[in-house]
Amino acid sequence: MDIEQKEQLYEGKAKKVFATSDPDLLIVDYKDDATAFNGVKRGTIVGKGVINNRMTNYIMQMLEKEGVETHYVEELSDRRTVVKNVKIVPLEVIMRNVVAGSLSKRTGLPEGEIPSMPILELYYKSDELGDPMINSDHALAFGWATADELAVIEKTARKVNDILKKFFAGVGVDLVDFKIEFGRYHGKIILADEISPDTCRFWDSKTKEKLDKDRFRRDMGGVEGAYHEMMRRIGLK
Ligand code: TMP
Repeated sequence: MDIEQKEQLYEGKAKKVFATSDPDLLIVDYKDDATAFNGVKRGTIVGKGVINNRMTNYIMQMLEKEGVETHYVEELSDRRTVVKNVKIVPLEVIMRNVVAGSLSKRTGLPEGEIPSMPILELYYKSDELGDPMINSDHALAFGWATADELAVIEKTARKVNDILKKFFAGVGVDLVDFKIEFGRYHGKIILADEISPDTCRFWDSKTKEKLDKDRFRRDMGGVEGAYHEMMRRIGLK
């Protein structure tokens, strides 16, 4: 691709973002750094950057084929990808198919319980505040998204869940829950950020073994092995 990498714009917990010679495009560079609990727990997951880059790109291309517009443009290398230069909507959208994590803590329901329908949650993206849970009224009242944008975001999140739940079931994995983010790009809302074992809960369908970042969050060991197993399941290695 005929673009040049320019200055670093941002370094987050798991990625660096660079400007390019095209103002409409950015380059993301995935790191092996891992954090949890809003950066309180820190570590390294060797090879994670490569896995999250390649898995995210595979999933974004699959979603595009199903009619979901995403920020994906082109994979440049194992860790680096060209994406559209979106303005991120300050919302984290979580879809849940199985009770786990903070939902289990908040409700007292056991991990593994299946709700009668997928649950969509909104969180306000703010590191200082630790990403507090909000509802759509908060998002509208404080101008974090318009009503039209929220409608697109919620409809798209449910569609992404339907597509991914089916895809992962086909490779023997329960898609327990996941987090996605959206961006504004030339007046449209499109899917952005990453979809990886950092941002999803994956359980082996038969054994319910955890194949995601919970192994790091909960000091369970076998973190790298779980990330590699997910790559193998989706046929990327
Ligand atoms: P939770 O149960 O801790 O709220 O997490 C729900 C899902 O969201 C889980 O798949 C992990 C993902 N997630 C992120 O991607 N980033 C975050 O900062 C948090 C808290 C969760």
